[in-house]
Amino acid sequence: MTQETRQIVQYLADYRPYPFLLSETRLDFTLIPDATRVKAVLSLAPRDPDTPEDLVLDGGAGLKLIALTVNGQKPDPAHVSREEERLVIAAAALPRSAFTLETEVQIDPAANTTFEGLYMSGGMFCTQCEAEGFRHITFYPDRPDVMATFRVTIRSDRKVLLSNGNPVGQAQGMAEWHDPWPKPSYLFALVAGDLVSISDSFTTMSGRKVDLNIWVRPGDQDRADYAMESLIRSMKWDEEVYGREYDLDVFNIVAVDDFNMGAMENKGLNIFNSKLVLASPETATDTDYERIEGVIAHEYFHNWTGNRITCRDWFQLCLKEGLTVFRDQQFTSDMRSAPVKRIEDVQALRARQFREDAGPLAHPPRPDHYEEINNFYTATVYEKGAEVIGMLKRLVGDAGYAKALDLYFDRHDGDAATIEDWLQVFEDATGRDLAQFKRWYVDAGTPHLDMVEQWSADDAGGRLTLTFTQETAPTPGQPDKPARVIPIAVGLIGPNGDEVLPTRILEMTQPQQSFDFEGLGARPVVSALRDFSAPVILTRRIDDATRAFLLAHDTDPFARWEAGRELAMTALVSLSQGQPGGDDYVTAIGELIADDSADPAFRALCLNLPGDEEIATRVFSLGLTPDPDAIHAARQDLARRIAQTHQDLLARIYDRMQVTGPYAPDAEGSARRALRIAALGLLNRIDGGQRAQVLFGTAGNMTERMAALACLIRLGLGDDALAILHQEFQDNRLVMDKWFSVQPMAAPPDSAVAIARDLAARPDFEWKNPNRFRALIGGFAANHAAFHAKDGAGYDFVADWIMRMDPVNPQIAARMSSLFETWPRYDAARREKALAALERIAALDGLSRNTREMVSRMIA
Ligand code: ARG
Ligand code: ZN
Repeated sequence: MTQETRQIVQYLADYRPYPFLLSETRLDFTLIPDATRVKAVLSLAPRDPDTPEDLVLDGGAGLKLIALTVNGQKPDPAHVSREEERLVIAAAALPRSAFTLETEVQIDPAANTTFEGLYMSGGMFCTQCEAEGFRHITFYPDRPDVMATFRVTIRSDRKVLLSNGNPVGQAQGMAEWHDPWPKPSYLFALVAGDLVSISDSFTTMSGRKVDLNIWVRPGDQDRADYAMESLIRSMKWDEEVYGREYDLDVFNIVAVDDFNMGAMENKGLNIFNSKLVLASPETATDTDYERIEGVIAHEYFHNWTGNRITCRDWFQLCLKEGLTVFRDQQFTSDMRSAPVKRIEDVQALRARQFREDAGPLAHPPRPDHYEEINNFYTATVYEKGAEVIGMLKRLVGDAGYAKALDLYFDRHDGDAATIEDWLQVFEDATGRDLAQFKRWYVDAGTPHLDMVEQWSADDAGGRLTLTFTQETAPTPGQPDKPARVIPIAVGLIGPNGDEVLPTRILEMTQPQQSFDFEGLGARPVVSALRDFSAPVILTRRIDDATRAFLLAHDTDPFARWEAGRELAMTALVSLSQGQPGGDDYVTAIGELIADDSADPAFRALCLNLPGDEEIATRVFSLGLTPDPDAIHAARQDLARRIAQTHQDLLARIYDRMQVTGPYAPDAEGSARRALRIAALGLLNRIDGGQRAQVLFGTAGNMTERMAALACLIRLGLGDDALAILHQEFQDNRLVMDKWFSVQPMAAPPDSAVAIARDLAARPDFEWKNPNRFRALIGGFAANHAAFHAKDGAGYDFVADWIMRMDPVNPQIAARMSSLFETWPRYDAARREKALAALERIAALDGLSRNTREMVSRMIA
């Protein structure tokens, strides 16, 4: 009998294959809210019959074992032991060849508040198994490299009974499903509820007809059309761009109100947070629509990158997530505007991933140890994981990438693969050595890249030398950072604004490296890191005039936007330090937004100032201590100056960008609204809220109403509008989430804590619902100066709620705790308060493994 207890830290280096092979899994569910029975029949065989091994099955404390047989016989009780989160059957009780293990357990979905495993939401049964939720449903080798076909019987009085794969049997109170594609347990799903569907179909490239259903609660079916259209677009796109065809007769999507994450790619049965399915013009914003389209695509794309090819172990999570994010980003670029999508993605990367990489929670896209895997569904694994693939594509070229992906699908279909497998495919397809490139997967931290220009005139004209130096600061557990290969996309712009050198990729492999450009007539302006060709922090000596020149002339949309961003950022940093700044930005931005030939969405992106948090990040990276109040004031000041200087121009834009005719959530319409709202946000500072007042009352779409509402709240004039919205939508959970989040987020920082506390005391603050909890607590923390209030009230408010949530839903509590990850940046007084809040959380009795790991990494 094994004496092992569960290791606290899991190490990649300890990987060993499961000692048994599992070919088929049969499950039989009898669904009763507080007493569900699960029978499991596993067809097992020892991997090596000559080396007898104990059979170790994962199984949470909530499983009540009712029956257990091996080949139909009860094993001797002395050979069976129940450990903390496992069931162990000693080798002595097992046959040396193939055998059948049967178990029956009882579980209590109604009491499951963690929304992991089998739980109930609004009267419906529903599952979430990734990463390790299946062990709360039955005893099982709950690891991604153990794959089996599934046959599932569901007995329930609910009308709609769903599981993975194809339906094979249907009777009163019963349904049977068969999934022919071997899969790991984390892709298992089951839903039972009184649901209704909207349905359509898709004919695949080889002519097979697939039934498509989106299941929602009765009354919600008129808000699922956009999700269905997005699904069909995704299926088509994956065939056209990656040659990937869907492989079952039916594809089901279910919308659930209580869901910890965005969505889940269970084979043939995706389960979604309802906010990523349901949308109508009256209830959803343009951003919501864009996210719905992107996440529907993301989960669908997982069918090949995640399901057909899965991960060997959870250290390889970015193998499926980085690649699938990369694919959904490509999809959105194709459906909408590629430059706009790229700029949005970079903004999100900087706001979330750069922040993570620069603090105590920094980890590589492929970590080599963890305590709780749910804590590693991070911006680094997802978004940096996608950036790394973008770099790989840049280095090997589009054709090399296409060849490598074909080989990947060919070679690894049906496998549980690793990052090594992935890189090997690229090496074999392109002949490139990727040993140095691998550092991007295994090293944490964002490289700082410094660029120095040197110009020398000679007979042949002139020569420009660019010298780059890369350096990455130590991160937890990784003191030394060897040089990485960095693809740096560069272009040169002549003094007259014409491009003299189109984009070229410089491949940097050394700590310091120079690149020469010869035969240039006159000294050009360098456009560097075009399209954000690598996730690095670029510094260069450049004056405001040159930045303004790039903002006006750069042919690369990202670099052009970045020039404006840098102008704004240097001004804001300077203002926050009590220095002057901003005149050049105010002038340049006026010229840019007056240019009606430029995409309104692009102009909107240029007009939106960096947020307080982003400014704080920059201040800190310059070796200074961010002062949240000064940063807030600086941003207010600059916004007001833009409004005053360009009052007439902004008013014209505001009027002209009005969209007439019916609302459509497409790129054109949302671009116009984005620019209109950006103008409104500035005008609001000088028109006393008059436009926002009118817009809130007249707009027929939620995008403009929410923008107007935020403007009014900012001025302390939101009460009437909030009452109206509440009256209109109190029965719509998704709109009420917005109602809860906009108030503490947009409120003046000195009143936000009080507002958040009042909201939290309301009976309709249903805090056990993850969306509602995130709306209020996350909304509050997005108010930078309020969360970082000097007296520590913001920290305490958030810490109190994390402590309340932890025993109920540890995943959500742990995730929320990362709001504290930036605490080491601030002044001693704030640091002391934040640390005290973290220590209070750490001292909580019975603190979950999830939150304990997060807090101890942040305190370390
Ligand atoms: N695989 C899902 C997705 O990215 C996310 C599941 C996250 N689950 C979790 N327990 N952290 O689409
Ligand atoms: Zn995913």
